[in-house]
Amino acid sequence: MPFVPVAKVTDIPPGSGLLVEMKERDIALFCLDGIVYATSDLCPHQGASLSTGTLKGEKIICPWHQWCFNVKDGSSPLNPRLKIKTYEVKQEGDQVFVMVPDSD
Ligand code: FES
Repeated sequence: MPFVPVAKVTDIPPGSGLLVEMKERDIALFCLDGIVYATSDLCPHQGASLSTGTLKGEKIICPWHQWCFNVKDGSSPLNPRLKIKTYEVKQEGDQVFVMVPDSD
């Protein structure tokens, strides 16, 4: 499963996210202190696009009802049983690569 180039670090808006599609999945990229993280774009509450939310510190805040998720591991500070998927990221200079499994 190779890493695939998906975006440039500079494409990711500060304090928000960038939506990319890989293997028919919507992936949200966020940049925190120069490090890029990739998560599922789909909010498990009612399906909002998390890449259009806000990144505050390590927290992705959903734009619809403000549920939040840790950008590094996808965990929810509100509900320990709730988690969004995260994906492996590699950076080479400004180029961002993501590895998405064939199924998850
Ligand atoms: S859809 Fe994300 S909090 Fe409701």
